[in-house]
Amino acid sequence: MQRRDFLSASFALGAGAVFPRGALAARERLRLGIIGTGLRGQVLLQELLRRPDVEIAGLCDIEPLMLAKALAQVDKAGRPRPPTWGDDRHPYAYQRMLDAQRLDGVIISTPWEWHAAMAIDAMNAKVPVGCEVVAGISLQDHWDVLNVQLRSGTPYMLLENVCFRRDVMAVLRMVREGLFGELIHMQGGYQHDLRAVKFNSGDPAKPYGGGVEFGPKAWSEARWRTEHSVRRNGELYPSHGIGPCAMWANINRGNRFTHLNSFATKARGLREYVQSLGGKEHPNAGVTFSLGDVVTTTLACANGETILLQHDTSLPRPYSLGFRVQGTRGLWMDVNRSIHVEGRSPAHQWEPFGPYQDRFDHPLWTKHQAQATGAGHGGMDFFVIHAFVEALKAGSDMPIDIYDAVTWSAITPLSEMSIQAGFQTVPFPDFTGGLWSSRRPTFALGA
Ligand SMILES: NC(=O)c1ccc[n+]([C@@H]2O[C@H](COP(=O)([O-])OP(=O)(O)OC[C@H]3O[C@@H](n4cnc5c(N)ncnc54)[C@H](O)[C@@H]3O)[C@@H](O)[C@H]2O)c1
Repeated sequence: MQRRDFLSASFALGAGAVFPRGALAARERLRLGIIGTGLRGQVLLQELLRRPDVEIAGLCDIEPLMLAKALAQVDKAGRPRPPTWGDDRHPYAYQRMLDAQRLDGVIISTPWEWHAAMAIDAMNAKVPVGCEVVAGISLQDHWDVLNVQLRSGTPYMLLENVCFRRDVMAVLRMVREGLFGELIHMQGGYQHDLRAVKFNSGDPAKPYGGGVEFGPKAWSEARWRTEHSVRRNGELYPSHGIGPCAMWANINRGNRFTHLNSFATKARGLREYVQSLGGKEHPNAGVTFSLGDVVTTTLACANGETILLQHDTSLPRPYSLGFRVQGTRGLWMDVNRSIHVEGRSPAHQWEPFGPYQDRFDHPLWTKHQAQATGAGHGGMDFFVIHAFVEALKAGSDMPIDIYDAVTWSAITPLSEMSIQAGFQTVPFPDFTGGLWSSRRPTFALGA
């Protein structure tokens, strides 16, 4: 049996399957590849290069400059250069890497429209997947990714880093220890002014802003992400907001989403940005954007909670994921870094979150904070890669698994359906096929 067949067969044994002792030696070091060495792929590569238990065994990108940047990172880390794929710009070059490189895992960090196809090909090739935070585009994509994972038994993790944010994890501990009483309502979202990400000059030295180009003339995310704002209207990037909420609310583990409803405002921000920066004569000044500037989505849960998500990426605003966790005994909000707990806080008053953060710091953070220092996004990127690599090495279940991935990511097509149907409430599919009621929480139970 080839090593990766063995690997996959071991995972297919099911929840908590662990490799037999004799196999552990082979699992101390993983051969990993990356598909998509763009700006995010380079951040994830940096995390992998910091780890002695990972060998970079293959890199694939269809943009030679992005590949060159990734190779320069490998050189700087003093690691051997891996073979590269996609130098010929062939969009399916990644399949050759999957076939040739005997990988123990692959990270997918490409444009959203590629994630489902790449994950399906990797899982069919028995290469475990760590996928950036969109599982697919259409609802059918989500069923396809799920079904291939279930059929192949190949591990799949959604690389949702915000679940590992320090305050988010401390709040998870507070929720589990009952500080807020019974959970009633949560909020989160993606509230991030992306105008300078969605448009640039096409100069690789200035990937963020400095122009009003998007599509083939642009660089990095402006090359592909902006097109989604042209064609689609919905909650286009749910997972940074919903991931933490789903962990707090035990979604797919004793709870599930039952209904979804989305409202979208008019679209003004992106056009105004192009016109003010590029002038009214610029060819992009007349583009019609479908994406409402603020998209508000409400989810109802089987256990009686509601979750409100906001997608807000086209207007001037400071960054905030806008978290709120509210229960029968109090609430936390991240925007003012404040908390109120009945019986502890002065009546009707906020308290600063800092002392609570110290008191409820998650053991994962306490244990690994030295390694997380300097990692991307305030340390979260260390944890998400650490979780993926350690689960692969141990042969244990993925901490953010296929059910989490498709459930969180399917919010996008469902919100598009809701908006298209005149803001109708739509039923939320049960991707677990009923397993949600017997599955138990596993995320971050210890250090
Ligand atoms: N978790 C996070 O915090 C976070 C942050 C940024 C981006 N992301 C996600 O990461 C992904 C990549 O985003 P990015 O900012 O790196 O974008 P990017 O445009 O900088 O990188 C994407 C790369 O994929 C390459 N690519 C496109 N098609 C390909 C193909 N068929 N085969 C191989 N390579 C291909 C492109 O050439 C490009 O280099 C997206 O899904 C994005 O949403 C996540």
